[in-house]
Order: sequence, then structure tokens, then C-alpha cells
Amino acid sequence: MDARTMEPRKPEIGNSALYSDVIAGMSRSPKGLSPKWFYDDRGSAIFEEITQLSEYYPSRTERAILETGLARIEAHVPAGAALVELGSGASVKTRLLLNGLKGLSTYVPVDISEDFLHASAAELATDFPRLDVRPVVADFMQPVPLPDLGGQPVVGFFPGSTIGNLSPDAARALLMRLGEWPDHDTLILGVDLVKAPETLVAAYDDASGVTARFNLNLLRRLNREAGAEFDLETFRHKAIWNATEARVEMHLQSLEDQSVQIGDHVVEFAAGETIHTENSHKYSVESLSELARTAGWHLAEVLTDPQALFAVAILHRT
Ligand SMILES: C[S@@+](CC[C@H](N)C(=O)[O-])C[C@H]1O[C@@H](n2cnc3c(N)ncnc32)[C@H](O)[C@@H]1O
Repeated sequence: MDARTMEPRKPEIGNSALYSDVIAGMSRSPKGLSPKWFYDDRGSAIFEEITQLSEYYPSRTERAILETGLARIEAHVPAGAALVELGSGASVKTRLLLNGLKGLSTYVPVDISEDFLHASAAELATDFPRLDVRPVVADFMQPVPLPDLGGQPVVGFFPGSTIGNLSPDAARALLMRLGEWPDHDTLILGVDLVKAPETLVAAYDDASGVTARFNLNLLRRLNREAGAEFDLETFRHKAIWNATEARVEMHLQSLEDQSVQIGDHVVEFAAGETIHTENSHKYSVESLSELARTAGWHLAEVLTDPQALFAVAILHRT
């Protein structure tokens, strides 16, 4: 054995931003991580599986609202507009708008999941040749670098209840930043509504374990990109309803006392301790209206489904 092979193995760190974030998140009490790290290529693909689950009512409900409300949405979209979508993912529901809103000339999907975004954008460009499709890889928690849209009116689209992943303060700050985009007076926002806790928890803890796979994939990503050595068998997915904060929380719970190497740090877990991986805040029309008002927007129209599970709100700048 030569000297090199006797050295302790140095874990590979492929993603320094993820590494800094995970070390900061594991040093907090309780431990936590931003949900934006769910979305590597595999995470984005598992999310698409989630949207097909019977328990995951938000996707199909939002889709139905967009379908039935298309004419009402169209009345808010100026001719020649650019649709800018935050957290576009596979842009599945967006196709309804790209098909139905005849006045659109440009589509700007914005997402942090780079390869997935480019693959989705390439398909859209083929399927909608009349549209200028201009994908932007960006973190929407920071100011988003929009392409030069040459003064086209901008219509924002933020579906999927992704705004629910932000705390109300962070959501307000994001809405305020969106209000600073040039020529941006209309925002179409999908939000999940407060409802029975059993329905909410089932949507984030499905019987077939797809959401568990999505959550645990974060540890796989940390192992691959941040020099971590998590044993996925020793963590379990957990979803709970936090009534005080009106949010569903997802956690990864350690099944035993253990030490986990992450780069050159060792992180201790007690049995039962969790890493808080996602919040999904739920709104009422009143709390959404208040959020919009304090961020410089107002609700021009709210479209919902017959059971009031989900809302698509059309906001105008105040
Ligand atoms: C809940 S999924 C919604 C996907 C799609 N809009 C839908 O409605 O089905 C959230 C999407 O936002 C993206 N995302 C999450 N955090 C982000 C961030 N901080 N910046 C940019 N995109 C982000 C993810 O990659 C993912 O595509």
C-alpha cells in the first residue's frame, strides 16, 4: 500500500453552492435545506410522476381551472405579450395557455433545473413554432435576469402552488421583485387552498411512495454533488400539517443515532431527528388577497374549482 492509498478518502464536492447551503442548513437547529435542491434531473422527473398521483389533487385541479377559465384569463392578456413562467418544470399545464392565448408572441420559462428546462424548452419550440421560446436558468429567490423583450407587455405565470414553498415574507418579497419587472402588470398565480388536513397530508405522502422517493432523492443528490455519505436506508420521508403556520411540512427523519460525513464536516443525528426539506403554505382567498395587497398587487379575479381546492388568481399591479 503506498502513501496515497493510505490517505483518508476526500469526498468529491461537485456543487459548491449546494455544499455551502447544506453545511449551513445542517448547522441550524432544527436542521433544514431549501426545496430548490430537490430539482436535479431525477428530482424534476419524479416531480412529474407526483403530478399524476391520485392523491396529488393540485396539478389536475389547476389544469381544470386553467381549461375552464381560459376565456377569462385571455381577457387579461394584452396582444403581443410575453408569458414569463417561474418554476416552469416540464411546462405541462402551460401548453393550455400557449395553445389558448392567441395574443402571446414569446414564452420565457424560468427554472433552476437546467437540463430539464432546456429539454422542455426545446420540445415547446418545436410544438409552438409561432412562439419565440427563450428559456432562462435562474433562481427565482434572486432577481431574475429577463431577456430583452423589447417593450412587449409581460404576463407573469407562477403556477403549481410553488409560491407556497416560500414563507409568506419571502413570497411577499418575491411578488415585490416581480412588480419591478418592466412592462409587467398582470400575474397569473396558482395557489393551493387550506382544506382538511387528511387531504393535504395524503397529497404529500402518497400510498405508492413517490413523494418519499422525491424527498429521499435529495440525500442521493447530496451524496453525488456535495461529498455527503448519507445511507438512504436510515432516513424516512415524513409529511405533517402545521396548522399554526397553515403549511404542510416535509421532513427526512433519521431512524437512528448516527454521524454522517458531509465533505470535511461530520453531522450528528439523533434517532427521530429530522431535516426539514419543504414547506407548502396554503392560503385562503383572504390571506392571498392580503399578501398581494402588501406586495403592491391586487386580485383582479380569482378562478377556482367547484370544491374550492385550488385557486388561480389574476393579479394586477396596484
Ligand atoms: C412544484 S414544481 C412546479 C412545476 C410546474 N410549474 C407545475 O406547476 O407543475 C416547482 C418548479 O420550480 C422549480 N424551482 C424550485 N425552486 C426554484 C428556484 N428557487 N428558482 C427557480 N426554479 C425553482 C423546480 O425546478 C420545479 O420545476
